[in-house]
Amino acid sequence: MHILHTKEAVKSFRQNLPKDQITIGFVPTMGALHKGHLELVKKAKESANVVVVSIFVNPTQFNNLNDFSNYPKTLDKDLEMLRNMEVDCVFVPDSQEIYPNQPKLKIDFGDLERVLEGSFRPGHFNGVGIVVSKLLNIVKPHKAFFGQKDLQQVAVIKRLVEDLSFDVEISVVPTVREEDGLALSSRNLRLGQEDRLKSLILFKALTFSKAELLAGRHWLDIRNDVNMMFVEQQGVDLEYFELVHSNEMRILDGLVPEIPISLCAAAYVGGVRLIDNISVID
Ligand code: PAF
Repeated sequence: MHILHTKEAVKSFRQNLPKDQITIGFVPTMGALHKGHLELVKKAKESANVVVVSIFVNPTQFNNLNDFSNYPKTLDKDLEMLRNMEVDCVFVPDSQEIYPNQPKLKIDFGDLERVLEGSFRPGHFNGVGIVVSKLLNIVKPHKAFFGQKDLQQVAVIKRLVEDLSFDVEISVVPTVREEDGLALSSRNLRLGQEDRLKSLILFKALTFSKAELLAGRHWLDIRNDVNMMFVEQQGVDLEYFELVHSNEMRILDGLVPEIPISLCAAAYVGGVRLIDNISVID
């Protein structure tokens, strides 16, 4: 497994690949890898013959300095996991390599980012857009893999790829969950035992709401119940709980026929910010 730290090294890695019938699958990550990331790698391996993973905790997508400095870093373990998965190349740049200059460009994703993560984390999607563009330009993959857990990020990246004509196919991989339903996330590493139990409220509220919606109950009544569930659960602060168009991220006030619909939530559990979503109608 090649472990590369510079853009130049990635370029020569690419140049040394055989010219014919090469498909590069790319999995961008911020490290602290878990089974969700490994699922992305697995999917990449299934449809590409060269797999590149990047590990870079991107400072420009954090709107909160604490969140950035507390982001878990487990590089040795990450590399071991990727070696076991027989990944071909891992790109581990430092900040200077990615940001020799502070980018002046600002990417505005319009309506896609006025809600949910975009509205609670100002500048977050600008940072995601800039770093994903840079990584795609460095790695030049044929396919790139992203997790459905970051539903709004998927929408933003699809918009980026379409609007800027990146020559890459985006694949979305379903969320991987613990047996009890908690969506895998690098941030789960920061949950203490008690908070780990409390965090289950997110998945419970999402599955409860989906069942009630499909049973025909009014969304606003369901949301009141959900708000009460969160008020009663001490140590958990709900940030948002919304019904949205799964691709456009438009907030809905009930089920609408013939559009894909998801429920999206974010909450602080013992100070750790968690997000999750489930599809209501595909
Ligand atoms: O989903 C993530 O881990 C990050 O947002 C990404 C896509 C690697 C960009 O830093």
